[in-house]
Amino acid sequence: MTTTAGSIGMGNTGAGNTGAGITRVGIIGCGTMGAGIAEVCAKAGADVRVVVSSAASADAGRRRIAQSLNQAVARGKLTAEAGERVLGAISFTDALPDLADRQLVVESIPEDEKLKQRVFTALDAALTDPDAILASNTSSLRIATLAERTERPERVVGMHFFNPAQVLPLVEVVPAERTAERVVAAAETFAADVLGKQVIRSADRCGFVVNALLIPFLLAAVRMVEVGHVTPADVDRGMKLGCSHPLGPLELADLIGLDTVASVAEAMHAEFGEPLYTPPQLLRELVTAGRLGRKTGSGFFDYPR
Ligand SMILES: NC(=O)c1ccc[n+]([C@@H]2O[C@H](COP(=O)([O-])OP(=O)(O)OC[C@H]3O[C@@H](n4cnc5c(N)ncnc54)[C@H](O)[C@@H]3O)[C@@H](O)[C@H]2O)c1
Repeated sequence: MTTTAGSIGMGNTGAGNTGAGITRVGIIGCGTMGAGIAEVCAKAGADVRVVVSSAASADAGRRRIAQSLNQAVARGKLTAEAGERVLGAISFTDALPDLADRQLVVESIPEDEKLKQRVFTALDAALTDPDAILASNTSSLRIATLAERTERPERVVGMHFFNPAQVLPLVEVVPAERTAERVVAAAETFAADVLGKQVIRSADRCGFVVNALLIPFLLAAVRMVEVGHVTPADVDRGMKLGCSHPLGPLELADLIGLDTVASVAEAMHAEFGEPLYTPPQLLRELVTAGRLGRKTGSGFFDYPR
């Protein structure tokens, strides 16, 4: 299955990949984050090919991107024609080898180390351009654990976007031990100069900068509700009204996806062994019940569809 390829040009062949000339981008996974990253890259003029796990995922992914573009049009941030052009620049496939000619691929599948490692091995075998950059949008896993599953660890780097990727300006760029400096620089140049993002560089440490601070905060909010100190609505009102947070921690956890919050917490707990990273029972129960937050219509709060 391959659908709609709206090619916007070729670039950067043979002369070394500095990031500035990247026009052929691959994304693996089209959930909450993959869809947003695909949109942001297509808006910047890239030809974007997205690998999905099934035809149903392609339909859901295309709908998600179309909905976000329609919102941007309704808010006057994009013309309807530009929205159509962006959507036309994104194609979908369920075959990873269809990424063969990509200059940059950003993996954005669930936060599962073994799954990501298998995908990195397959991606390494698929990419024909020796200058291609293999990036992961992982929230917490060390980039080295993915790089070591490829024959070109020097070309593997973390590019951690924030949710919603089409709106939030930050990208954490994460070099692993063997990542070449020119690859880190190219990832930074692409994020800043092509996508218009702001970049911070993080060491390859589980949770990087932002999640190392954010996850314990979100888990503490869940624990307060779990022991009955306070309602979810009042936790969020407290942080919005008392600390000027734009979203309360539980609304933010719902936005991230409670399964993703739990997986990131588990990865951090496995890495550091600190009790503060243990996913609370209430979080596990919501995940088991399929209440994953916004993406399923309910989590700590309900989101009518
Ligand atoms: N949700 C957030 O706020 C957020 C923010 C930054 C980074 N991240 C990270 O981004 C990654 C993806 O998270 P998400 O929130 O988008 O998850 P998600 O569950 O919304 O989407 C993941 C998608 O990957 C698909 N998928 C699974 N295996 C696949 C495969 N082999 N090939 C192609 N597609 C496959 C799933 O069908 C699903 O559509 C995770 O590593 C997560 O930690 C998440």
